[in-house]
Amino acid sequence: MKIEQGNCTNMTNTKPIDKSNIPQHVAIIMDGNGRWAKQRGKKRVFGHENGAKAVRKTVEACGNIGVKYLTLYAFSTENWKRPKLEVDTLMRLLISSLRKEMKTLAKNNIRLNTIGNTKDLPKVAQKELAEVIEKTKTNDQMVLTIALSYGAREEIKNAVKLIASKVKNNIISEDAIDESMINEHLYTHDLPNVDLMIRTSGEHRLSNFLLWQVAYAEFYFTPVLWPDFNEEELHKAILNYQQRERRFGKTSEQLKQNVDA
Ligand code: IPE
Ligand code: IPE
Ligand code: MG
Repeated sequence: MKIEQGNCTNMTNTKPIDKSNIPQHVAIIMDGNGRWAKQRGKKRVFGHENGAKAVRKTVEACGNIGVKYLTLYAFSTENWKRPKLEVDTLMRLLISSLRKEMKTLAKNNIRLNTIGNTKDLPKVAQKELAEVIEKTKTNDQMVLTIALSYGAREEIKNAVKLIASKVKNNIISEDAIDESMINEHLYTHDLPNVDLMIRTSGEHRLSNFLLWQVAYAEFYFTPVLWPDFNEEELHKAILNYQQRERRFGKTSEQLKQNVDA
C-alpha cells in the first residue's frame, strides 16, 4: 500500500520548513480558551490567562521563522456581549500583558499595531497601547497587529462612509473608487493581504474577522485549543500551507510554466 507523505502527521512533524515559502502575513483566530479551562474544571478566566502565554510563544515563533506580519484576533465587537466579569478580566489581562511583554517585543525587534475600535477600550488600556506602539515604532523584524474591539463589517462600513463623504465633498470622484481605494480606508491599510488564516478550537468560521483581507488566504483549522498552541503547532500550520498551490484564478499548468496566458 502506498502511503502519501503529506497525509502522515508524523512526517509532517519532522519535515523542515521551506524558508523560501514563509507566509508573509499570518492571521490567527485565537479560540478555545473557555473550553480549555472547562476541561480542567476551572473558570474561563483561567483559560484566558493561559491563552496569553500562548500569545507570547506564537509571537516569538513567528518572528523566528520570518513571518513579517502577524495579526491576532483578541477581542471582537461581538465579544462585548459576554458577561461583564469576563470582559473586565480580558481588559485587565490585555493591560498586564502589554506591560509584561514590552521586553519580548523589544528583544525580538517587533512593532506593535492595533486594528479595531480601540476607542471603546478602557482608557488605561488605550494609554498602555499608545505607549507600547510609540516605544516599538522603529522595530522592523515583524509587525504584530492585535485586533481589539474589531469587527470586519464595521471596518467595511466605516470605509464606505469615509469614501462617501469624500465624494460628497468633491474630494474624489465616484469613478476614482477602486479596490485599492477601499483598501486604503480599512483599518489594515498598511498591511498586505492575509496569506494564511489559522483558527484554533475546531470551529470552522471567521466570526467577523478580516472579511475583505482573506479573499485569497489559505485557511488552516486545528482542533487544538488556543492555550495549547505553540511553536510546534505553528510549524504544522506552515508546513500544511506550503503544500498548497495558490492559483489566484489561474490554472495549475499556467503556474508551472510561469506564463500569463
Ligand atoms: C477565545 O476563547 C478568546 C476570546 C474570544 C476573547 P473563547 O473565550 O472564545 O473560548 P471558547 O470558545 O469559549 O472555548
Ligand atoms: C472569535 O471567537 C473572536 C476571538 C477569537 C477574539 P469567538 O469565540 O468570539 O467566536 P464565536 O462566537 O464562537 O463565533
Ligand atoms: Mg470562542
